[in-house]
Amino acid sequence: MTEPSANAAADPAGKLLFLEDVYKSYGPKIVLDDIDLSVRAGEFCGLVGPSGCGKSTLLRLLLGAERADAGRILLDGAPLGAPDPQRGIVFQKYSLFPHLSILDNVLLGPRLSSNFGQWRRQRASFMDEAASLLKTMRLESDGDKYPHQLSGGMQQRVAIAQALIMHPKILLMDEPFGALDPSVREDLQVHLLQIWEERRMTVFFVTHDIHEALFLSTRVLVLSQYYRDGRTLPPDCHGSKVVGDYQIKKDAASTDLKRTAEFADLAQTIRREGFEPTVLQNINEFNLKHPDSWRSLNPEEAAGS
Ligand SMILES: Nc1ncnc2c1ncn2[C@@H]1O[C@H](COP(=O)(O)OP(=O)(O)OP(=O)(O)O)[C@@H](O)[C@H]1O
Ligand SMILES: [Mg+2]
Repeated sequence: MTEPSANAAADPAGKLLFLEDVYKSYGPKIVLDDIDLSVRAGEFCGLVGPSGCGKSTLLRLLLGAERADAGRILLDGAPLGAPDPQRGIVFQKYSLFPHLSILDNVLLGPRLSSNFGQWRRQRASFMDEAASLLKTMRLESDGDKYPHQLSGGMQQRVAIAQALIMHPKILLMDEPFGALDPSVREDLQVHLLQIWEERRMTVFFVTHDIHEALFLSTRVLVLSQYYRDGRTLPPDCHGSKVVGDYQIKKDAASTDLKRTAEFADLAQTIRREGFEPTVLQNINEFNLKHPDSWRSLNPEEAAGS
């Protein structure tokens, strides 16, 4: 049993997402090792961490595609169930069905989640919304094409439209721009920020790229297995924790931000704290500076302080 700190961030009230004491293992391998997290509606959370630290695993738990071994995950105060339209997801690739047109790909979610009568009654309004989303995504003349006729960047824009048409409470994105060329990637980053600002969605965005996370996010979470605590386990036997949680000030969605000294310094700090196998912060030294950040300590962990 862990003792939550007397902290408003540790209260699920008013939080869109709330995770407490979440653990996930695969066989003997602990991947997520006591994750505590609360996220407010409208936040753009970037999640970074070394390869294999469990970023996609955490995203799958938030999607409901897998269950945590222990702990609780609440969405809007209610326990999270199987995947449903409240949570949209965009992967790096393979979100689109090759045999469906772009328009039909965007309409897939509404079609699958409606019964025959609902679909017939609402088809026209779904078609209007799909057309409007394709316009937002600068794909208004591509609705009749098929995925193979589109570039990688265009396909990812379709994947985002496919998720947005379901009006998810939270948009989960797993390295959505990871396979794109740098210039296309930057263009899509700016585009995603514009959409986020217009819709004020809550986004959970996984990326390897610290600069991408810092540019996009209002909050950057660092997940890492590189830390030490009071447990006697060798470091490679424990799982990942949130070792850093930063509030990011955003004045404008300008890529100039990426070239400031402050940005470079923070990127370096995050790389050091989360990505360096030789840098093992003590659990009580984690940089959990975001006002909604919180962490409960179990007695073993507390003993390490
Ligand atoms: N279904 C599974 N069965 C067994 N092990 C798994 C499974 N899924 C993930 N793992 C293991 O869990 C760990 C975390 O994997 P995960 O894919 O979540 O990492 P990640 O941080 O997303 O990595 P990357 O940055 O490379 O995408 C890895 O060691 C991986 O091998
Ligand atoms: Mg991954």
